[in-house]
Amino acid sequence: MNLPIVVTIDGPAGTGKSSAASELAQRLGFDMLDTGAMYRAVALLAIESHIDARDERAIAAAMDRTPLTVDFSSRPPTIALDSRDVHGRIRDADVTQIVSLIASHHEVRVRLVRAQREVAAQHERLITEGRDQGSVVFPDATVRIWLDARPEVRAHRRCEELRARGELVDESRVLAEIIARDASDRGRSEGPLRKPVGADSIDTSGLSFAAVVDELERLVRRRLHETDVGCGCGGPA
Ligand code: DC
Repeated sequence: MNLPIVVTIDGPAGTGKSSAASELAQRLGFDMLDTGAMYRAVALLAIESHIDARDERAIAAAMDRTPLTVDFSSRPPTIALDSRDVHGRIRDADVTQIVSLIASHHEVRVRLVRAQREVAAQHERLITEGRDQGSVVFPDATVRIWLDARPEVRAHRRCEELRARGELVDESRVLAEIIARDASDRGRSEGPLRKPVGADSIDTSGLSFAAVVDELERLVRRRLHETDVGCGCGGPA
């Protein structure tokens, strides 16, 4: 039997992390955990429970009452609050607006870090994507990757996504929002957004989506080969 493998992918918003991690997971036959979606689900829980986003204790109490689950039987996996699929709702603007504040709460992070480690314990091969996966949650992961891109490139990508969904966008506003969210994610005391010490990094600024996934696949296969873990995922080492 192969040893459990955890691959972490961290980086700021708009680097294409989620889509690239999802495609990589498909290629390698790994499961994929989108931890940003978990923070977004907690933000939605606060909104729906009419809890002020600054009220850490009330949010923690609501989390303790409400099961948050990830359904790995769908691709990509979906997220549920109290068995209700909220996958489509958690990308809405009201959630995006408060999620960084929600993610700065110690009581929220403690609970989600625990939940993420529980998920990893149940999956033999997991790619987990977020901000603190390689630095805080899985510092001993088999492979740790940091994805980054220039803010202007990230803003442009986010606008293309929104346009594809039929939304009207103001690119300079999206850029300002991305810079503000990065600053908030970098500045918080717990699980701040930063490159994990010793992680491999890829700058995706000049790369197409396919090139990012190719680069990730090459890197993961090489690291697994070097560490002699083997991924049992076919293809070249
Ligand atoms: O990747 P995303 O945009 O869906 O993440 C939503 C928010 O959650 C973002 O403000 C950063 C935060 N987050 C975090 O603090 N730690 C993680 N592991 C994942 C996301």
